[in-house]
Amino acid sequence: MNLALTETQSQIRETCRLFADRELKPNARGWDRRHEFPAEAVGKLRELGLLGVAIPERWGGAGMDAVSYALAMEEISRGCASTGVILSVNNSLYCDPVHKYGTDAQREEWLGPFARGEKLGCFALTEPEAGSDAAAQKTTAVRDGDGYVLNGSKNFITNGPNAAAALVFAMTDPGKGHRGVSAFLVPEGAPGFSRGKADEKLGICASQSCSLFFSDCRVPAQARLGAEGEGFKIAMSTLDGGRIGIAAQALGIARAAFEEAAAYAKERRSFGVPIAEHQAIAFMLADMATEIDAARLLVWKAAAMKDAGVRYSTEAAMAKLYASEMAGRVTNRALQIHGGYGYLKDFDAERHLRDARITEIYEGTSEIQRLVIAAKVLG
Ligand code: CAA
Repeated sequence: MNLALTETQSQIRETCRLFADRELKPNARGWDRRHEFPAEAVGKLRELGLLGVAIPERWGGAGMDAVSYALAMEEISRGCASTGVILSVNNSLYCDPVHKYGTDAQREEWLGPFARGEKLGCFALTEPEAGSDAAAQKTTAVRDGDGYVLNGSKNFITNGPNAAAALVFAMTDPGKGHRGVSAFLVPEGAPGFSRGKADEKLGICASQSCSLFFSDCRVPAQARLGAEGEGFKIAMSTLDGGRIGIAAQALGIARAAFEEAAAYAKERRSFGVPIAEHQAIAFMLADMATEIDAARLLVWKAAAMKDAGVRYSTEAAMAKLYASEMAGRVTNRALQIHGGYGYLKDFDAERHLRDARITEIYEGTSEIQRLVIAAKVLG
C-alpha cells in the first residue's frame, strides 16, 4: 500500500496551503461577519485552475485527479470553509456531471466557461418537500414541441445567487417515481426562472444559497442532460463525488480548529504552566489529531477509488459521515480549549464550530449516509 502523494498532488496541496494562509485565513472572519461573497479570492482561485480541478484540460479544467481535488478542498477549507463549498459545488456538483453526462456540444457551452471559472454553476435537486427523499420531486418538466416547460421551486441552493447556470432536476414522468426524473441545464435570465433572496444561515456565511423558482420556464430539448428518466441516477452518482468534497471540507475545518487550539494551548498558562501541559488538554488534542488523520484516510480512499474508476458510493458516504461528525467533535473541543475566549467572535473557534455543522446536513445528512452504508453492509 502506498500513501505517498505524487509530485502533482504534493504541488497542489502546497499551492492551496500557501494560498489559504495568505489570502483566505486573514479574511475569513470578516467575510463571515459581513456575509460577504469572497469574489476576489474566487477570482484568484480561478487563475490557479481550482474551479475545474478534475475536469480535463480540453474542457477548460486543470486535468488533475480526485485525490488532488480532495487535497485542494481540505487546504482551501482550512483557510475559509465558505470558499471551500463555493469551489466544491462548482467542481463536484456542476462541472463533474456536465462532463460525465454531457454531449460534446453541451460540454462546449455548459462546461468550458464553468471549469475555467469564468462562470459559477449550481445544483438544484432539493425542494421544500424533497430533501432526504430526493426522488419525491414536485418540479415538473413537460415536453412541449422542441423543448420542455419547467414549473416548481428548489431551495437551499448553494451558489444559487451567484450562478450563471443551474443543473435542475425535474419530473418528466411523475408516474414513474425516481425513474421519471430528468436533468436540465438552465441559464440565468431564462424567461420564467427567478431566485429568492439569499438565505440567512448559522455558518458558512460567506457562501450564499437561495431558492430558485420556475414558472413556465421554457428550455430547448438540447438543455436536457442525459436521457429522459436518467436524472435521479445522475443526481445520485454526482452526489457520490460531492460527498468526497464535503468530507474534505469538514477535514479542512477540523484542521483549522485543531491547529489554532494547539497553538493556544501552548501559549495560554494556568496553574503555572501552559495549558497544553495539563493532561486534560493534551489528551483532547491527541484525540483530535487522531480523528483528523482517520478521516483523511477515508477521504483519500474514496477519492482513490473514484480515480480507479470503481464504484465508491459506500466509501464516499463513510468518508462524509465520519469526517463531518469528526469535525463537529473537533471544533467543539477546540472551542472548549479556548475557554471563554472561544465563545467570543474575536477568535475563530466559534466560526469553525458553526461552519462544521452544515457538513452533517448538506449533500446528504448523516442519517442518509448511514442508510447508504447500511444498505451495502447488510447486503
Ligand atoms: N449512483 C448511481 N445510481 C444510484 C446511486 C448512486 N450512488 N444510488 C442509487 N442509485 C440508483 C439505484 O441503483 C436505483 O436504480 P434502479 O432504478 O435502476 O433500481 C435508483 O437509483 C433508486 O435507488 P434507491 O431505491 O436507493 O433510491 P431511494 O429513493 O431509496 O433514495 C437515498 C436513496 C440514498 C435516500 C437518496 O434519495 C439520497 O441520497 N438522498 C439524499 C439527497 C441528498 O444528498 N441531497 C443533497 C442535496 S445537494 C446539496 O446539498 C448541495 C449543497 O447545498 C452543497
